[in-house]
Amino acid sequence: MAQTVGVAGFTGKFASCVVKSLLQNPGVSVRGFCRDPSKLPPSVTASSRIHIVKGEFNDKDALQSFVTGTDVVICCYLGNPELMSEGQKLLIDACVAKNVPRYIAGDFSVDITNIPYGALPPKDPCKDIMKYLESRDIQGIHILIGVFMETFWSDFMQIWDPRQKKLSYWGTGHEIWESTTYGTAADYTAAVAMDTTAVGTQHCKSTTTFFELVCEEKSNSNSPRRSQKPSRNRGDIRQGLRL
Ligand SMILES: NC(=O)c1ccc[n+]([C@@H]2O[C@H](COP(=O)([O-])OP(=O)(O)OC[C@H]3O[C@@H](n4cnc5c(N)ncnc54)[C@H](OP(=O)(O)O)[C@@H]3O)[C@@H](O)[C@H]2O)c1
Repeated sequence: MAQTVGVAGFTGKFASCVVKSLLQNPGVSVRGFCRDPSKLPPSVTASSRIHIVKGEFNDKDALQSFVTGTDVVICCYLGNPELMSEGQKLLIDACVAKNVPRYIAGDFSVDITNIPYGALPPKDPCKDIMKYLESRDIQGIHILIGVFMETFWSDFMQIWDPRQKKLSYWGTGHEIWESTTYGTAADYTAAVAMDTTAVGTQHCKSTTTFFELVCEEKSNSNSPRRSQKPSRNRGDIRQGLRL
């Protein structure tokens, strides 16, 4: 079935993975929204199946122009609370005004339904948007992926120290960690976008323990060894693991 999918935050890393996956389906055309199309590669700007709309997140006319004719809009914004909260509300309002039936929120995160306000402040806007979607005339979709493995290994998580080749973690290492990769989450998001019956909360994640995650990633290495002295960080006891 022919479908038109809108992707906001079109210049982002996850958006590019989602678009790549969407275009595997010959019946799909894509409308992308971003503030600076010059960031996009020629393969994207030259594609006859991609239409790009330029605009700031608070430009209501540009937002309405972007969502017109889409069957579903995927929000791939990642930015400050104003963008994630007010920016998404403006995008949702544009969808409602133009009768877009489904909206995939800019979550792609741990299960926000289990986290109280303030426990993970960057995700508070996602909780607001979940409520906002329930109050508007549109079907909201929330894709919960845990942590991206690419983020897991990055400085942001403060888990992996590449200089010392050391992993730090809380607990015993046998607790469940929810995770997936950008690529797998993008394939899943594209499949959800195409499935008109998929609404509400959707889970895409492996549920393995910390040790299993690390062993999967290092499958050709020896089993990890726990260091003798647990280190302390941010007031919590963290274990050290050398690879
Ligand atoms: N669970 C995890 O571990 C994890 C990790 C990372 C991301 N995520 C989620 O994945 C999604 C996408 O992340 P990503 O890694 O693809 O992020 P990214 O590469 O940083 O892309 C962010 C997008 O948001 C746009 N943006 C930022 N500030 C803006 C503003 N003020 N006005 C308009 N557009 C703005 C950027 O546009 P410009 O190019 O113009 O700046 C870009 O298109 C988000 O929902 C994020 O929460 C989850």
